[in-house]
Amino acid sequence: MRSNAGTTIIFMIMMLATGIVHAELGDITFQREQGDASTQSTAPAVFPHWKHRIHYKCYACHNAIFQMKAGTAKITMQEISDGKYCGACHNGKQAWAVSFDTCNNCHKGE
Ligand code: HEC
Ligand code: HEC
Ligand code: HEC
Repeated sequence: MRSNAGTTIIFMIMMLATGIVHAELGDITFQREQGDASTQSTAPAVFPHWKHRIHYKCYACHNAIFQMKAGTAKITMQEISDGKYCGACHNGKQAWAVSFDTCNNCHKGE
């Protein structure tokens, strides 16, 4: 249905007009490729779109940090620790940092 960015934008404008953008901005569960054993023991991360939308305009993330297509970013914890992706904000400044107290905030699984 949405095969390219242009179509996506037109589709989103239509959704904004009809008020169903809220549903579109639901939770995104990150899909893993074939993981190793350590990866399997941590549930996939879930990104709560709507809760972030309360704090930020779309362009805070799109497209500087994330593309408007689920599954584009292949994220590792190392990159987050290096300040990329979620780590651009979840660093103890804009938002709470990654620590053993917060693993499960993000890693909620399906
Ligand atoms: C701010 C959100 C966030 C927090 C907090 C967080 N993670 Fe992640 N993590 C992610 C995202 C996003 C991915 C990529 C999607 C996936 O694999 O679930 C990821 C990937 C992973 C992976 C698989 C890829 C890799 O780098 O090995 C493991 C294992 C992992 N996290 C463990 C942890 C542990 C352990 C903690 C706590 C110390 C933690 N994460 C805290 C967001 C987070
Ligand atoms: C705090 C960061 C953030 C903000 C703000 C944000 N998004 Fe996103 N958005 C994401 C992430 C993360 C993804 C998943 C990207 C990936 O998997 O590579 C995403 C994905 C999307 C997708 C693709 C969904 C799918 O199922 O393929 C659309 C559409 C989208 N965002 C629209 C918006 C719109 C419209 C706004 C503003 C109303 C917005 N986003 C605000 C982080 C954000
Ligand atoms: C543009 C900055 C930004 C980015 C990028 C970002 N976050 Fe957040 N996130 C925030 C802020 C700000 C909050 C609210 C913090 C608070 O309430 O103290 C938040 C809250 C959250 C929450 C808690 C939501 C709730 O239920 O209250 C989760 C879970 C979360 N982020 C996961 C992620 C994941 C996973 C990523 C990467 C895919 C990510 N965030 C990327 C800024 C960001």
